[in-house]
Amino acid sequence: MISTNFLVIGSGVAGLTYAVKIAEKFPNKNIIIVTKGDESETNTKYAQGGVAVVLDDKKDSFNKHIKDTLIAGDGLCDESVVEMVVVEGPKRLKELMLWGANFDSDSKGNLDLGKEGGHSEYRVVHHKDITGFEVERALLERIHQLSNITMLHHHFAIDLITNHHLKELKSDSLQCFGAYVFEQKTGKIITIKADSTVLASGGIGHVYGHTTNPIIATGDGIAMAYRAKATIKDMEFVQFHPTAMYRAEEGPSFLISEAVRGFGAYLRNKKGIRFMLNVDERAELASRDIVSQSIDNELKKSGDTHVFLDCTHLDIDAFKKHFPNIYEKCLSLHIDVSKDWIPVVPASHYLCGGIVVDKEGKTSIHNLFACGECTRTGLHGANRLASNSLLEALVYAHNIFKSQCENLPKQLELEIPEWNDKGTSIPKEHVLIQHNLMQLQALMQNYVGIVRGDNRLTKAVLHLGLIYNEIEKLYIDSKIDTTLCELRNMINVAHLIINQSLERTENKGGFLKV
Ligand code: FAD
Ligand code: SIN
Repeated sequence: MISTNFLVIGSGVAGLTYAVKIAEKFPNKNIIIVTKGDESETNTKYAQGGVAVVLDDKKDSFNKHIKDTLIAGDGLCDESVVEMVVVEGPKRLKELMLWGANFDSDSKGNLDLGKEGGHSEYRVVHHKDITGFEVERALLERIHQLSNITMLHHHFAIDLITNHHLKELKSDSLQCFGAYVFEQKTGKIITIKADSTVLASGGIGHVYGHTTNPIIATGDGIAMAYRAKATIKDMEFVQFHPTAMYRAEEGPSFLISEAVRGFGAYLRNKKGIRFMLNVDERAELASRDIVSQSIDNELKKSGDTHVFLDCTHLDIDAFKKHFPNIYEKCLSLHIDVSKDWIPVVPASHYLCGGIVVDKEGKTSIHNLFACGECTRTGLHGANRLASNSLLEALVYAHNIFKSQCENLPKQLELEIPEWNDKGTSIPKEHVLIQHNLMQLQALMQNYVGIVRGDNRLTKAVLHLGLIYNEIEKLYIDSKIDTTLCELRNMINVAHLIINQSLERTENKGGFLKV
């Protein structure tokens, strides 16, 4: 067993920001970050558009950013949370820049501000079209300078340790005491006892067949919190990004940033018609729930597999300067954006709901905190405004830190049992895991997609039940295996999305039931 003062699960913007702050403030305390892949392999690393913050106080204002966020959230945001996050934004961005993150500036040396769907002003701070890569780089560099942080990469958190594991503990309230972690290289399971645990485990993209997310996004933190009986909400609000590059196979799809539409690109159907003009006065720059639903509608009407993003009328030299990564990626696929339209289709991108936290990042379980994409803070409501996610992670990482400075988690004197895997064996038929994973992703893609219906959702419950039974049995009989655990977590997440979709009776933001 390992003991630590602070355990962080996840090495994206949320986990790293929190860890840097705690480590700097408490040089005599130790912090462990566990992360299941390479330390930089996160949704954060792939963020393109940028961070939404109000900097230009001549044209923009906090009120405008608040209003845009509330409109996108379609009446379901928590207004006091929106205000808090928007107002904190500039301070948190400044801090990130002091830690070494570089963002593009204009000819006058001011930060260059981009625009994305749903934003009434230019306010998206970015590093070309690889903002997340730069943020992750800067944070990891800072982390490596801090000697009281231990980064355990390729370590998979299996489950949170709660009262459930400590039979002798007499307590009415649920508490978290750390996590059981699988060291993938050796196959050992480590018990990490922690005074405080922060879940910063990111999104759920891979529950769907088509996603913009890297393969780490399997909803592990949400599933762990759910099994530990934390409150989970708003899971029906899965956000589909309108413009993932169209590809026939399943798995991660390359994103064509919304900032490209902010730069003036048009959406066209196969006939060349700019269909968004008839849908919303903001046309291609309507919020992404509206754009994704409109594309879905176009595809259902025409039977086509994708629509197109047309950049051919844009200043291509300026395009290359702003979006070098997108330009090169297209070129590598023989798409010359100065002449060719880019085939695009909506793909699962972001989860607006998740583990319920208060403004200090506290979950419903004592000593368990959460920040970043795995949480439901109340900022996004029924649909996240573009580029509000990195912002939310920065603000909530800071809020947990601030709250813990005022109320330092107490050292735990407890005996925690080791992981018990008696009677289990190494799963012999990986094909079973792969087959069920494909079934799950197809089920979610086809029955629980952009537009839902009670009939299809009810069928999804039945199909998911079959997958659940098969995988739960395999899990109980098996030694820990990362792919199997991820699948089990995705099944839990799918269950939450389907059931909360069935419970929702009113269409809001990204949720459309017909
Ligand atoms: P992540 O960055 O995903 O980090 C999660 C971490 O948890 C990873 O290290 C992972 O390995 C670890 N982890 C997960 N499960 C386990 C486990 N069981 N055990 C151990 N470790 C685990 N947002 C914006 O605001 N602006 C943008 O421009 C933008 N562009 C985007 C573009 C793309 C292609 C994508 C996919 C997302 C984009 N987003 C954007 C969303 C944003 O990037 C994410 O919401 C945000 O980075 C999430 O940060 P995070 O720290 O919460 O999670
Ligand atoms: C994008 O660049 O389009 C992604 C922005 C986001 O998800 O916030």
